[in-house]
Amino acid sequence: QPDPRPQEETVKYEIVDGVAWVSFNRPDKRNCMSPKLNKQMLIVLEELEFRDDVQVLVLTGEGTSWSAGMDLLEYFREAEVQGLHKVREHQRQAYGWWERLRWYEKPTVAMINGWCFGGAYGPLFACDLAFCSDDAQFGLSEINWAILPGGGASKVAAELLNFRDAMYHAMMGENLTGPEAAAKGMVNESLPADKLKDRVQEVVDVLKKKDSQALRATKWAVRRVREMTYDNAEDYLIRAQEALNDFGGWETRKEATKQFLDEKTFKPGLGAFDK
Ligand code: ACO
Repeated sequence: QPDPRPQEETVKYEIVDGVAWVSFNRPDKRNCMSPKLNKQMLIVLEELEFRDDVQVLVLTGEGTSWSAGMDLLEYFREAEVQGLHKVREHQRQAYGWWERLRWYEKPTVAMINGWCFGGAYGPLFACDLAFCSDDAQFGLSEINWAILPGGGASKVAAELLNFRDAMYHAMMGENLTGPEAAAKGMVNESLPADKLKDRVQEVVDVLKKKDSQALRATKWAVRRVREMTYDNAEDYLIRAQEALNDFGGWETRKEATKQFLDEKTFKPGLGAFDK
């Protein structure tokens, strides 16, 4: 099998003004995740993670779909014929890039332009923020073909939805529309399809103005504290801020404080300081 390479076939990206616009690129297959896509996506994410010209990553889909979940042919059926070793290999590849994305060094935004099913809840949850089009549809379709929502999908439903909604969503196999997903908290906002990209652009433009080290510490903090007791969270946050200080945090904070207290050129309550 030839080496999967970035920017090839199943994953596309372009970098525009500090934003990496990455897309699932199997529109004919509704961007379902094949082993090849999973391998290529990890390579692309790794390539972009430490580039100086990338400040924010947006994950979207080519065509009418964000991602129709796992590829039932290549990810499941063909692996199952080959045996458990292949099944596990495919799981590791998929879960691997979702985990990498969950703990990405840079802020990530899911721009959900269409279908989002099953396995796609992994990358959906992995992205820090999520915006969808009103005509997007979200579904745990697993129950419709007699499996359970694996690959983290049950966990994502339980994390993002309240208990009754998560149960209903997982058991009924009915889709949520974009506005329903937004109302239930699965995404930040749902927008008319022709406004989606503009809104995401607006959001990433705000993110680009923030201190990148502070953003990274913040997004990791919010994810970490979800699973901590109050006391552990408090302690973790002290340590994380102290670590941030070693990443240039003292200087940036001194500068920001000076702009507020001495120069009176900005107010932290109303926007970011001038880097
Ligand atoms: N796995 C494999 N092939 C897929 C998948 C998938 N998850 N999703 C779409 N495709 C393929 C179709 O088989 C079809 O292939 P073909 O052109 O060779 O016939 C092609 O993509 C286009 O799909 P259509 O069904 O024709 O597209 P349509 O726009 O009518 O419907 C929809 C889109 C609703 C997304 C439909 O394709 C579908 O139900 N897909 C499966 C969604 C799903 O349940 N995913 C699995 C979730 S569970 C999990 O991820 C573990």
